[in-house]
Amino acid sequence: MTLLNAQRISMQFGGLIALRDVDMRQVAGETLGMIGPNGSGKTTFVNVITGHLTPQRGEVHFDDISLLGRKPFQIAAAGLTRTYQAVRVFSELTVQENIATALVDAARPLDSDGVAETTEWLELRHRLDARAGSLTLYEQRRLEVLMRLVQRPKLLMLDEPVGGLSSTEVRATIDLLSELKARCTLFVIEHTMKVIRELADRVVVLLAGEKIADGPPAEVLADQRVVEKYLGSADA
Ligand SMILES: Nc1ncnc2c1ncn2[C@@H]1O[C@H](COP(=O)(O)OP(=O)(O)OP(=O)(O)O)[C@@H](O)[C@H]1O
Ligand SMILES: [Mg+2]
Repeated sequence: MTLLNAQRISMQFGGLIALRDVDMRQVAGETLGMIGPNGSGKTTFVNVITGHLTPQRGEVHFDDISLLGRKPFQIAAAGLTRTYQAVRVFSELTVQENIATALVDAARPLDSDGVAETTEWLELRHRLDARAGSLTLYEQRRLEVLMRLVQRPKLLMLDEPVGGLSSTEVRATIDLLSELKARCTLFVIEHTMKVIRELADRVVVLLAGEKIADGPPAEVLADQRVVEKYLGSADA
């Protein structure tokens, strides 16, 4: 079943074309990876899909609902949400309070057993009363995932989930995300190819706002153009 269907997305900032006619289809249960050089439009794509930006052209359907013109909170309530490249949590609030804001944002009733279970799974239970700003980056990244999971998304878009993490933390994050695949459909932007190789069922490549490859990771990561234009410089 097609969960996300984006067609001919074009996004321009003044004279800069950040996305040009990008098509993307994702079926439920499939983990889709997105890679590409800095500035190739990956975050812009997620911003468009999740309602943070309105494209000049294109259509987005999620679960057969048209998303264009809807606000991020409405899209989250429909089951599509995201994390941010630069982690976004409320530093002055505690972990517990951050979770509460996420529930309010998605207008979800409190399922305390579900929240407790997810908090435990993300190893944040002992941090519930800590201020989010006092957490390590790895804990903050897990808190951000927790804040989205309590909203019970069908599709979670992760923008560089291992950005800034140590190799041990990267390993642990890959393990968590591979367990998460059983709970919701994942879309993952990454520069760390290990994450893509281990998690993605399919990978798409953006280059200067255009999709230049789309297929199984083994094939796409061996594509000569992808290697030339991107992987030569990436953390492969
Ligand atoms: N709000 C904005 N206003 C103007 N230009 C923007 C805006 N957001 C992104 N851009 C520009 O659009 C292009 C694509 O940026 P984007 O952040 O989507 O790249 P990216 O692929 O996520 O890169 P990275 O791997 O560095 O995160 C860049 O040239 C960027 O400077
Ligand atoms: Mg980005």
